[in-house]
Amino acid sequence: MAVSLAGSPSMSNSTAAPWIVLKFGGTSVSTRARWDKIAAIARGRRTQGRQVLIVVSALSGITDQLKALGDAQADAARRAEIRDQIRARHEAMFAELELVDRAPLQYWLERLDALVANVRADAGGLPWQAEVLALGEQLSSTLGVAYLNRLDLPAHWLDARQHLLAQPMPNQNAWGRYLSASVPTAPDAAFAQGLAARGTLFITQGFMARNAAGETVILGRGGSDTSASYFGALLKAEVVEIWTDVAGMFSANPRQVPNARLLARLDYEEAQEIATTGAKVLHPRCINPVREARVPLAIRDTNFPDLAGTEIGGAVPDAARSVKAISSRAGITLIAMESIGMWQQVGFLADVFEHFKRHGLSIDLVGTSETNVTVSLDPTENLVNSDVLSTLCADLVKVCRVKVIAPCAAITLVGRGMRSLLHKLSGVLAEFGPQRVHLISQSSNNLNLTFVVDEAIAADMVPTLHALLIRAEAMRVEDRAIFGPSWRELYQSGQAEPAAPWWRARRADLMRLAREATPRYVYDLATVRARAQALKRDVACVDRWFYAIKANAHPVLLREIAALGFGLECVSPGEWERAAGIAGAALLFTPNFAPRKEYGDALVRKIPVTLDNLHPLAQWGADFSGHEIFLRLDLGTGRGHHDKVKTGGAKSKFGLALDELPEFLRLAALHDVRIAGLHAHLGSGILDVAHWKDVYVQLASIAEKIPSVHVLNIGGGLGVPARADEAPLDRVALGAALAEVKSAYPQFELWAEPGRYLVADAGVLLARVTQTKRKGEVRYVGCDAGMNSLIRPALYEAWHEIVNLARLDEAATELVQIVGPICESGDVLGSNRRLPPTGEGDVLLIAQAGAYGAAMASHYNLREPAAEVVL
Ligand code: LLP
Repeated sequence: MAVSLAGSPSMSNSTAAPWIVLKFGGTSVSTRARWDKIAAIARGRRTQGRQVLIVVSALSGITDQLKALGDAQADAARRAEIRDQIRARHEAMFAELELVDRAPLQYWLERLDALVANVRADAGGLPWQAEVLALGEQLSSTLGVAYLNRLDLPAHWLDARQHLLAQPMPNQNAWGRYLSASVPTAPDAAFAQGLAARGTLFITQGFMARNAAGETVILGRGGSDTSASYFGALLKAEVVEIWTDVAGMFSANPRQVPNARLLARLDYEEAQEIATTGAKVLHPRCINPVREARVPLAIRDTNFPDLAGTEIGGAVPDAARSVKAISSRAGITLIAMESIGMWQQVGFLADVFEHFKRHGLSIDLVGTSETNVTVSLDPTENLVNSDVLSTLCADLVKVCRVKVIAPCAAITLVGRGMRSLLHKLSGVLAEFGPQRVHLISQSSNNLNLTFVVDEAIAADMVPTLHALLIRAEAMRVEDRAIFGPSWRELYQSGQAEPAAPWWRARRADLMRLAREATPRYVYDLATVRARAQALKRDVACVDRWFYAIKANAHPVLLREIAALGFGLECVSPGEWERAAGIAGAALLFTPNFAPRKEYGDALVRKIPVTLDNLHPLAQWGADFSGHEIFLRLDLGTGRGHHDKVKTGGAKSKFGLALDELPEFLRLAALHDVRIAGLHAHLGSGILDVAHWKDVYVQLASIAEKIPSVHVLNIGGGLGVPARADEAPLDRVALGAALAEVKSAYPQFELWAEPGRYLVADAGVLLARVTQTKRKGEVRYVGCDAGMNSLIRPALYEAWHEIVNLARLDEAATELVQIVGPICESGDVLGSNRRLPPTGEGDVLLIAQAGAYGAAMASHYNLREPAAEVVL
């Protein structure tokens, strides 16, 4: 709503001005500096012509202390001690805020005294506890309203209990009625008008309401959010803003997953699921009231008021199907009930559920078989303690055999249309495979999939699962309309921001090149140089570097790389011919299943040869007689960004299996072949430093037993992050890890042979949009580069960032499939990407295409693949 009523005095009491509800939690109301922020935010909203209702929590820690008063009912001295602490805290706040009129504070402190002094007959009972708990917010709102008025921001104090009337829920026990109450709310124009007639800025208390008897009741954990939501619904507010110390909901708990992404936009139901299944930032109960009233809810960070947090509202149009979050809840209790030998006994479920109802326990998940029903109890909704459990079980044994499984944790994937994402979850399911999964439940609203596992393993699983979801494109973090920055980007200042890619600065040159011709690969030599130099500098203990020219054998790049002191690693005569043209470069020949003649030709050219099988020595031993060779080993497992690039393990065709090593050594001795070095390359696109350390250590310990070996070649595979959630390879850590091994094995020379790392980011593919099309809900953007130019997306589901270079600064609003002209359904360069409105003739840039792009191009369909240009 674009209403600007600033400076319009006639509007100040108008009922037409929209309401905004701002809720501030405990830490946000605990210091004067924070209150200054609240004042600034409220003032800002006022100048935008909004009427403002502020809902506050108690000062941080106070609710816990008030609760402790209840726990210490029998101990008068302890109660007095807690009371004095609470009093001192508020006195200190009064002083900090430099308030003058003590009377309002005094009023609530005296009520505290009275309650603590046990004056009421039911002291310690539930009504008493509710009154005590309410004091926290009554005190904080009293201090707050005085402070805002002191700042010349006229604010009125509103007693929340007057306006929120709780209704007992069916089967709610007394504890729930007093300490976890609910308030049915619907927009109430009369209330809004009445308030508007009194003023434009109000402060009220979160966490409380009254019951039909006029007693104070509490709304339960997170009750202040719920209060804000109730008031938002009553006022039919423009928005309810929950101001807290974090920007919003994240795709996982940031404490477990620092790469978790801010969820910029969620619909009510998804937010509800995320809140229910673990995220602590919003209480689950606060969503329903605003959903029913169709009032949007926003989460904002008090420390960064300009940061757009999470916005929760109606369905997000045009969003990619995606898992939005993975959450975990600890403290789950499972109750497995076995019907005693009566298969499909009528009424069995009714009988057992009756007992839960009687104990006031609400059931979360249910799994059933013919003879067993297993349910979960969530501690946030239930008072699950050993007393409750033992009385429940005592009742249940009358109708079934009972087993309690605890402590468990529920790991939940949340996203609209979960069932349509199942096919992408194979990696996630595999991760659960070896663990004990007690229960799997798929919600009937198609919004969540939950796995209940032992509590001890859940926390460790979440980061892995989050990464797997992104990798499988089940969590579409590249959709910027939904996924905001990562927690690490937002809050871990000091973390180096990823540098803007070179092609942003060279946009004009790239547009010029695209005007000449497309499709076209363009390489930035400066980026290649910088990568090569950085590697040599930070991983200084590598004695000789070889560039794996299969990644990109463009002669200009080869010359540049060789000039920086790299040798060239080749896998075919074609590659060594190309490399031989580069003056001064040392070569390696590391083929796989090559024909006999090639080995001989390489030896004639004095190019060191690597063998990775018994066959050459067993069948053609004489060819190698008197020569030095290198031996490529398979250390047993492969690594890499995709199964197809793993080059270790029984399913990979590379490397000599370790159990054949003795035979290899025998054949080498027989034919007078000297093994000068050992080699291992177990895969490509690895970002984890430990990998090369492992390889190095394993090769070294094998080499110790082969006296002729003086070189260890740890291969390539150094990855570059393709997606925003991946952290770049830590070169310095790699240098340190290798140096550590080297100090243990100084007798060996250390070689390495990276390909991708030097060239991937240096290349982009430029393509021109040919046609656009819509089919049902799917929009296609076609371009003149297809899988014959860049096969990585089709072959490895590789992710390459794609932008519309012609409209680089326009908002990317449309969700599209970016496809090429090849007659294959797999000819997709990027699926579910966001681009600005894109039309024929626009230039697309496909990033990170310098490695294995042009090198793997083909003439399929007799279409010329993209040509190559070096900047
Ligand atoms: N050394 C050997 C023996 C290799 O086989 C390879 C790559 C490398 C070094 C260099 O690996 P790099 O540092 O580039 O990861 N086409 C796939 C990658 C296949 C890699 C094949 N071997 C892709 O586009 O991801």
